[in-house]
Amino acid sequence: MTVPTTKAHLVVAAAEHNAGIGVNGALPWRLKADMRYFARLTSSAITASFPIPASHHQSQPSLYSPPMNIVIMGRRTWESVPLKFRPLKGRINIILSRNSSFKSQNPDLTVFSTLDDALAHARSLLQLTTVQNPQTQTTLIPRIFIIGGASVYTETIARPDCGYIYLTSVKLPADKLANTTFDVFMPPLTTTASLSTDANGIGQFRRLATDEIINNEYVVPKAVAEVCFKENSLCVFEDGYDYEYQVYEKLSE
Ligand SMILES: NC(=O)c1ccc[n+]([C@@H]2O[C@H](COP(=O)([O-])OP(=O)(O)OC[C@H]3O[C@@H](n4cnc5c(N)ncnc54)[C@H](OP(=O)(O)O)[C@@H]3O)[C@@H](O)[C@H]2O)c1
Repeated sequence: MTVPTTKAHLVVAAAEHNAGIGVNGALPWRLKADMRYFARLTSSAITASFPIPASHHQSQPSLYSPPMNIVIMGRRTWESVPLKFRPLKGRINIILSRNSSFKSQNPDLTVFSTLDDALAHARSLLQLTTVQNPQTQTTLIPRIFIIGGASVYTETIARPDCGYIYLTSVKLPADKLANTTFDVFMPPLTTTASLSTDANGIGQFRRLATDEIINNEYVVPKAVAEVCFKENSLCVFEDGYDYEYQVYEKLSE
């Protein structure tokens, strides 16, 4: 397994039956445990042993203490976050929009008009936010998360620097299955288990085993796993919804 600390990791909750992720500009469900997982995963840095990996040498004093992860999202996802919760706290928020007036109307926000530029900026921040603690002999390494929506996921998944996909796979209860009309979808992943060739041009993915998810700091930091994976289970039943935390790794091309 690679250790992709500067890659772009996706976090998404999608319906198991059709990969639906959105309805009318909002989430299709309200899943408290999944929201907690999302918040903790995207807020927590990796705790690595000291000294830091070569790719993270810090040239200047840290700007952020504790270090902050970076979340990148499309303009509509930003607008779908309730006003009182945005910007997402404890994380550096970056928004994508091609519309120059969105940027001029929101001068306090960090807005980029291409994913390339947003990721270049995010990586420059990573250099500044990695924090070493010689006393505990640890290094805190922040990461970059792509948090939607559909076109941003699709673009990221096709990139060679796509890292993990943290997918919450949601089974809807029967009444919701009949009555939910999704209007935003995740692209299908081509997994090594399901197909031997890449059918959709986005590359191939390997689904991680439970042990690789629960016991690897570089996948899910221990502090997150301890709180979110009760009794080391990746499955949750909440409010009629059955869902499972899955992680996929992009295989190099
Ligand atoms: N289930 C989940 O985990 C999850 C996660 C996130 C979002 N969602 C849901 O998904 C829906 C929102 O997603 P969406 O797919 O409709 O919209 P979105 O991707 O959040 O936003 C689309 C907008 O982002 C900008 N954009 C996208 N890619 C860009 C790029 N490469 N460069 C520059 N700008 C770019 C454009 O903004 P401009 O039009 O301003 O140019 C575009 O119109 C909501 O229903 C939300 O609740 C669900």
